[in-house]
Amino acid sequence: MSQKKIAETQVWENLEKQASRMQDTQLFDLFNCDGERLDKTTLHTLGITFDYSKTHIDDRVMQALCDLADARDFDAARTALLSGGIVNKTENRPALHAALRGSGPRPMHINGSDIHSEVADQKAKMYAFADDVRSGKVRSESGNTYKHIICLGIGGSSLGPDMLLDTLSRAHDSAFDMHIVSNIDAHALVPVFKICDPKRTLLVVASKTFTTIETLVNARSVMAWLSAGGVKHVVQQMAALTAAPEKASEFGISDNHILPFAEWVGGRYSMWSSVGFPAVVAFGCDVFEDLLHGAQAMDAHFATADKHENMPFIAAVIDVWYATFMGAETRAQFVYDERLGLLPDYLQQLEMESNGKNVTDDGMALSWATSPILWGGVGTDGQHAVFQLLHQGTHLTPVEFIAVIKADHDMHVHHEWLLANCFAQGAALMAGRSSEEAAAELPDDAPASLALAKSFTGNRPSTTLLLDELTPFTLGVLVAFFEHRTFVAGTLWGVNVYDQMGVELGKILASGVHKQMTSDQTSPQELTAYDPSTQALIKRAMGLRDREVVQKTGRVQK
Ligand code: F6P
Repeated sequence: MSQKKIAETQVWENLEKQASRMQDTQLFDLFNCDGERLDKTTLHTLGITFDYSKTHIDDRVMQALCDLADARDFDAARTALLSGGIVNKTENRPALHAALRGSGPRPMHINGSDIHSEVADQKAKMYAFADDVRSGKVRSESGNTYKHIICLGIGGSSLGPDMLLDTLSRAHDSAFDMHIVSNIDAHALVPVFKICDPKRTLLVVASKTFTTIETLVNARSVMAWLSAGGVKHVVQQMAALTAAPEKASEFGISDNHILPFAEWVGGRYSMWSSVGFPAVVAFGCDVFEDLLHGAQAMDAHFATADKHENMPFIAAVIDVWYATFMGAETRAQFVYDERLGLLPDYLQQLEMESNGKNVTDDGMALSWATSPILWGGVGTDGQHAVFQLLHQGTHLTPVEFIAVIKADHDMHVHHEWLLANCFAQGAALMAGRSSEEAAAELPDDAPASLALAKSFTGNRPSTTLLLDELTPFTLGVLVAFFEHRTFVAGTLWGVNVYDQMGVELGKILASGVHKQMTSDQTSPQELTAYDPSTQALIKRAMGLRDREVVQKTGRVQK
């Protein structure tokens, strides 16, 4: 065994030892043992406080996690990420989303061209086009200014823009009606058609690859709707946001309406590129610049802060600690702020598509748990629904609360209650309530079982991210924080954070199933390529569909 392997094994064994010590440790005891605990476990940077005091982490655990980072060459991995090294080994590419906000060494050459100049040119084109749409210089075929923008895209090509539009719309007005449609299910598209005027609609197609079925099928349908609405040259009312401009051209979209970004931008990291165009049209370039500056500030913090002060690093090692060593299969993320209501969805893709892997980045099967299942929603709503499980369920579920001190409205009573609820949940998870305490509040003749049902084990971990205020800048800080956190966790797990091979098999099978379901020639024998359950589902759907056709047309299909 190599020295490195031996060192890694020792680090791992130490972490397992620390975990068995912590299984029996009460969070309150950690506070009692260390008078400086709160100071040590609270970080504040760029308008965000991160409190991880209510976790099963003490100095020894933190040291062991830092040792794991050293064993995994974290410093070198971080340098590689930020300076254009090949961190996506399976696809032989860098992951340079930080360069989209101006971070990284200058100049930074990839394949002979300077990344920063390339990014600046692409951004200038995107801003110019957005300005033209906003000012009315670019108009629809009939000479109208645009009012409705239908934005198609899925996954990273919709979750980011959707969140940006939703979050920023609470404090920034827009002259446009923005409609983000991702699902191939036309139940999403039909209501949009009902409220948009084809003569005042710009169709924006966001797809890194420009091959994604959902997006292209939706695009064809919107084009047909525009055409049926009297638009003769439909492509004139279209724009593409893509890393495959040649494919957008093949679609008929003219070059000046194609807003490109580079191949090294991962889909789930792309909202900083032209994929952010819907937000730029809605709120203007200055707002988007502030967002980029926030992310850039977090990049600088991540690149330079010492490990113990480094917010994404610390948050990530806590994620690794609970998922891999303490056995937590999920992590809950609750935003106590309607403005951030779409953040949990965004984070699900970011973390699970990045780190939901079972092989290392050099192809070895993993024997440890990687990304926890991320779930969550909005507080206080969650308290009246799923929080029962968090307080009394049988699973270990670290919870992360995200809240903002300053509201964008002046209805202070609401905001005070909102924050009070957020803080109380973390306190309750940690404190719990013994059955004796519960019994003391019950009538003397109450059965013991009732006291038990009303007791809480407590000792349940949580972290809190508290933003001073929610601005485009702090939103940029927050999202970049999560990106880097995801990278650190993936590095410690040894996975390739930047590919997503696991989404491919389903896509391939979907094409095959679709072909069978839509072919007039499909015979029962041809379906045997699928398992009995899938065959039965296909046959049932086809049978019902055929009956529907007969009822509507009187014709028997096939
Ligand atoms: O299928 C997964 C995925 O490739 C995501 O990684 C990506 O964000 C999404 O699909 C959309 O891909 P595209 O932007 O190429 O249409």
